[in-house]
Amino acid sequence: MNTKLPISTSWDPSSWRSFPIKQQPEYTNIEHLKSVERSLSTFPTLTSPSEIRALKRELADAVFGKAFLLQGGDCAESFAEFNEANLRSFFRVILQMTMALMYGAGRPVVKVGRIAGQFSKPRSDNIEKINDVELPSYRGDMVNAMEFDAGGRKADPDRLLRAYYQGAATLNFLRTLARGGYASLKQINRWNMEFVNSSNQGKRFAELVAQINECLSFIQACRLPLDEVEQFSEASFFASHEALLLGYESSLTRFDEFDEKWYACSAHMLWVGDRTRSPDEAHIEFLRGIANPVGMKVGPSSTVDGLLKLIDILNPENEAGRLTLITRMGAGKIDDLLPPLVRAVKNAGKNVVWACDPMHGNTIKSPNGYKTRKFTDILTEVRHFFNIHNAEGTVAGGVHFEMTGQDVTECLGGAQAISELNLSDRYHTHCDPRLNASQALELAFLIAETIKKQKKE
Ligand code: PEP
Ligand code: CO
Repeated sequence: MNTKLPISTSWDPSSWRSFPIKQQPEYTNIEHLKSVERSLSTFPTLTSPSEIRALKRELADAVFGKAFLLQGGDCAESFAEFNEANLRSFFRVILQMTMALMYGAGRPVVKVGRIAGQFSKPRSDNIEKINDVELPSYRGDMVNAMEFDAGGRKADPDRLLRAYYQGAATLNFLRTLARGGYASLKQINRWNMEFVNSSNQGKRFAELVAQINECLSFIQACRLPLDEVEQFSEASFFASHEALLLGYESSLTRFDEFDEKWYACSAHMLWVGDRTRSPDEAHIEFLRGIANPVGMKVGPSSTVDGLLKLIDILNPENEAGRLTLITRMGAGKIDDLLPPLVRAVKNAGKNVVWACDPMHGNTIKSPNGYKTRKFTDILTEVRHFFNIHNAEGTVAGGVHFEMTGQDVTECLGGAQAISELNLSDRYHTHCDPRLNASQALELAFLIAETIKKQKKE
């Protein structure tokens, strides 16, 4: 039986406006903001309801262990790092991780980027203070500038438009990569040539490529036309971001006559962050009314009752593929905090994808002042996530990473053994520290091994 819901059942894309809301910029020119939102509501959408429904079907498979969700990308996308090379290397690493996971785990991988809209950030403080100067905190390129000066830190509505245009160009390019030949398995050798070939992960991937190529020659020897089979020549790829700025989201929300539902067409999947998921506030109100797959971050403050209530609000029909719970407890806490939640959701018969975000519970400050994460903590949280689901008889359905295709030095450790002294070499993130290409691929191999081992047990 459903919990009694405090929220009224009528909904429209603007109903969130009459609810309390957290983590919003303070715009000084409201007329300007309104005019930008009006423009956005007339602009072409970035995604379509039928693509969104396709993602939901893929995620429904992940609920039952027939597919595995790989969600990843920047903590915060930036205007400055927007270029073809970065997008191509990001997509390449996602494809390489996909191959490692598919080959190791024997399941299709649902590929979802934190991309083409991941431009706004919740912050722990509204104000940043350096020496004696206090300015509004940086909230993502969609809101203000990272540079610490009064002009830059002012919330500027025109940045919503720039984020929209960058999102559109990003999605267009990713679609050309996914559908235009780059993602074809025939190109698999090329992906590695563009990668740091000499690195440990490059060598490991080369071995995997050799095995996949053997399978492909076998398939060709059977006279199966590789080029004509979509699964071999194209990749499906979806975009997601945190639904934080609801004016942007609701302006891009459209009604689809086909199934008479509302779709947020700024992305395929949207998620609600750990700080904005109160059941009686604006973000949950907005997300409950759209038909997209939605994610919800589940952090250490989550309780069994609170979680069940949110599940009923966000997924009252218990539709598989609609709701992904992205847990981010921290390596040291997951064993205590996750099992009771998993058990309660299982006992209540709720269909959800359980995904592990091993990033946000494992952020530390290095002695030299960098915000960083240890590769070992990330790996530990992922391993424990799999063990817990194995023990509870539930499905570990996916992972959620902050990662980049670039060779940055933001997280400590991994086979490259990045140390505290190395952090300053290439620390480029606009917010949280990301796994670099090599660390991300290493993690995918380790996850594939874990899944393989569990399958054998
Ligand atoms: C994020 O995913 O970048 C984020 C802010 O996460 P969380 O809401 O889990 O803290
Ligand atoms: Co982050």
